[in-house]
Amino acid sequence: MLTLAIIKPDAVKRGLAGKILAHLEAAGFVVRAARLVKLSTAQAEAFYEVHRERPFYRSLVTFMTSGPGLSLALERDDAVAHLRDVIGATDPAEAKPGTVRKLYAESKERNAIHASDSPETAAREVAFFFPEGELRDLRGSR
Ligand code: CMP
Repeated sequence: MLTLAIIKPDAVKRGLAGKILAHLEAAGFVVRAARLVKLSTAQAEAFYEVHRERPFYRSLVTFMTSGPGLSLALERDDAVAHLRDVIGATDPAEAKPGTVRKLYAESKERNAIHASDSPETAAREVAFFFPEGELRDLRGSR
């Protein structure tokens, strides 16, 4: 199954995209599509629509439009749950040792990586960045 990750602008800016991608590949994820995207305000607002009423929404949109992020469609078995385990808690102070956020995040907002939180969200978020035709099959089995 597929899930969506974004290596966020804070991590890309600090030159951590390659390290984080290597971490994800070592955890068994296969890259099916990738794009460096600087979101517009309207795109960031739409992507995080579910958080519109939260106090951190405007700040989150400003942060996510502050530079390019690396959007990734990733595949493995049980991809959504596995990716959430690998990235760790939203707040790096609470993330388990060895998780991407514990290793690389600066704060609860500038937390290095986004991952879809359910299979339904993953389908919506993969489609947000990648039309079906942009998903590559690196294993040649489909
Ligand atoms: P993400 O997994 O992309 O989903 C929503 C994002 O909002 C989250 O990662 C953080 O970047 C941000 N976020 C969540 N909670 C807070 C908070 N309490 N304060 C600031 N930013 C937050």
